Amino acid sequence: MRYAAITERLSTLGGAKWEVHLRARALAAAGVPILSLSIGEPDMPPPAELLDRARLSMAAGRYSYSNGRGEPALLAALAARYSRRAGHEVTPRQIICLPGTQTALYATLMALVGPGDEVLIGDPMYATYEGVVAAAGAVVVPVPLRPEHGFAMQADDLAARITPRSRVVLLNSPHNPTGAILTRAEVRAIGAVARAHDLWILSDEVYEELVFDDAPFASPLDEADLAERSIAVSSISKSHAAPGFRSGWCVGSEAFINRLLPVAETMLFGNQPFIADMTELAVSGPSAVARVMAARFAGRAQMIHQMLDGTPLRVHQPAAGMFTVVDVRATGLTGVEFANRLLDEERVAVMPGESFGAVLAGWLRVSLTRPDEEIAEACRRIAAFAARVMGERS
Ligand SMILES: Cc1ncc(COP(=O)(O)O)c(C=O)c1O
Repeated sequence: MRYAAITERLSTLGGAKWEVHLRARALAAAGVPILSLSIGEPDMPPPAELLDRARLSMAAGRYSYSNGRGEPALLAALAARYSRRAGHEVTPRQIICLPGTQTALYATLMALVGPGDEVLIGDPMYATYEGVVAAAGAVVVPVPLRPEHGFAMQADDLAARITPRSRVVLLNSPHNPTGAILTRAEVRAIGAVARAHDLWILSDEVYEELVFDDAPFASPLDEADLAERSIAVSSISKSHAAPGFRSGWCVGSEAFINRLLPVAETMLFGNQPFIADMTELAVSGPSAVARVMAARFAGRAQMIHQMLDGTPLRVHQPAAGMFTVVDVRATGLTGVEFANRLLDEERVAVMPGESFGAVLAGWLRVSLTRPDEEIAEACRRIAAFAARVMGERS
C-alpha cells in the first residue's frame, strides 16, 4: 500500500531528539528512581474555579457541536483581552479557537506556506516546529539566536537569511528552551525586516504569562504597522496549568482568519463548548496561578545558577518560561554525551541542547517544573558528574 509524502516527511522527526527522555521514562517504568528534568509540565493543577466551570457547563448540556470559529462569548473575551494589550481594537472576527497552540501553529502554517517555501525560525527552537513546517511541505531556515545577545533574535541575523522563497518568520517569545523575551525594540526591528520582504510574522506566545519579575512582554500583533502581517498563537496550557484541555487560539487580521477558517473546519468541525466556557473564565483577567508558577520557576532557575556556580558549567538566566539552559562545553562533552552519561551514571534526565538546534550544541536544557528538593539533588549530581569528567580529562 502507498502512503502520502507527508508521512515520510514527518517519520524521521522526533525520535532521536527525545532519546534521553524516552530512555529515562523506560528506566523509571522499570523501577529505577530517576530525577526527571527532561520535560516541562506545570507542577500544579489548573485553578479549581476553572475545573468547576467546565463541570457546570457539561452538566448544563454545553457539549453539542459548536461553530468553526469558537463560542461567541469566548471570542468576545479574547477580543477584549487582545484589545487591552494592543491598545487598539481587536474584534472577535480576528480570532479563531483551536485545540492548543500546537494545532494553531499547524493550521496557520498550512494556510501560509506550501512546498519549497521557507520559514525562518530562531535556533535553538521548540522541538515540534520542524514538524509543523515539514507537514506543510515547507523548509525551516534557522536563524541563530546568539548567547551573547541573550538568545534574542537580531534583525540583521534574520535579514542575512532571507531568500526569494522566504514567507514567514516564526517568533517564540518568551522562548522555549532559553527563556529569552524579545524587547519591543527587537520586535520592531524584526518587523521592519518582515515589512521590507513582505513576510508574515507568526508569534508563538504560549509563555506570555510566565514572565519572571514582571519583565515587559512585546508582541508584533500589538504594533499598528505590523498588525496586518502578524498572527499570534497561544493557549491556556501554560498560563493556567491546563495542557490537557487543549484550548488555544489564533489572532490575526480578519482576512487571514477568513482564510484559516475552512482549514480549521475541515480538520476539527468546531470546538468543545464546555472547554470554551472554562477558557472564557480563564482569559477574562490575569492568571493568578501563572504568577505563582513564574515565581517558583524563577526561584529554581536562581537556585540552579547558585548551585552550579564554581563548577565549569555556565547557567543561562531565563527571563521567563519553564526551562533553563546550561553550557557544558568546558567538560569536553557534547550535550548528547553529557545527557546520556548523566542518565546512566547519576540517574538524572535532562535534554541535550542539540535536540533544539545547532546553537545549543554542548548545552543542556533543564526543566524548572520539578520540586525544589529534586532540582537541588539533580544539581548536586550534575556538579559531581562534571567534576568526575574533568578529572578523567586531566
Ligand atoms: C514554545 C511552545 N509552543 C507551543 C507549545 C504547545 O502548547 P499547547 O499545549 O498550547 O499546544 C509548547 C508546549 O510545550 C511550547 O513550548
